[in-house]
Amino acid sequence: MEIDLKNLDAKQIYKLMTSIIVPRPIAWVSTISKDGVYNLAPFSYFAGISSDPPLLLISVGRKDTKEKKDTWQNIEETGEFVVNMVTKEILEKMNITALPFDREIDEFEKAGLTPVPSSVVRAPRVKEAPVNIECKSFEIIQIGKMGIILGEILKVHVKEDILNEKGYVDTTKLQIIGRLGGANYCIITEENTIELKRPDKR
Ligand SMILES: Cc1cc2nc3c(=O)[nH]c(=O)nc-3n(C[C@H](O)[C@H](O)[C@H](O)COP(=O)(O)O)c2cc1C
Repeated sequence: MEIDLKNLDAKQIYKLMTSIIVPRPIAWVSTISKDGVYNLAPFSYFAGISSDPPLLLISVGRKDTKEKKDTWQNIEETGEFVVNMVTKEILEKMNITALPFDREIDEFEKAGLTPVPSSVVRAPRVKEAPVNIECKSFEIIQIGKMGIILGEILKVHVKEDILNEKGYVDTTKLQIIGRLGGANYCIITEENTIELKRPDKR
């Protein structure tokens, strides 16, 4: 079967893309508004896109009112954000922060999470997350209704229990959640990890 995207509306395209481009990591983005209100929301249109310079990307849409989502507004106002990684223990809290709360509402409070100070940005980190990535806004590109936000990574915090003997992050210890289509998620565990060394060229 061949699907021509010209015959689909935006919702159908979203459903198709998000069920085949999987698994997607989740950027759980914490920001602060110019009035000092904390905000937290998940984004799975998320990717690391360059290591030199160290850049990541999130794609943020608009609310039903057509206004930019709070995350986008806050990043525009302050130029800073933190990407927190989501694990199984905090998955349900992440889901609460996806609700469309008003801008004056602090989603850390709503989800029962602990904001802790970051090192170089004003946006707080999620204490319960095993990894926090402090970013400054590198560029915001408006494409259609979306804000494609490029962030330059300034600092990374990792919990020590996810490091291996050599001091590197052990991805299987992280137990990171990936997003699949609809309301489905997956979890990266040791059993589901395949090691595949590059073959010899000869
Ligand atoms: C797992 C997950 C991934 C999501 N990914 C995106 C995304 O990539 N882009 C987007 O605009 N919204 C995404 N959403 C919806 C936002 O999280 C939601 O609209 C949220 O209320 C935005 O909050 P804010 O207005 O505080 O920024 C996602 C929701 C969930 C649960």
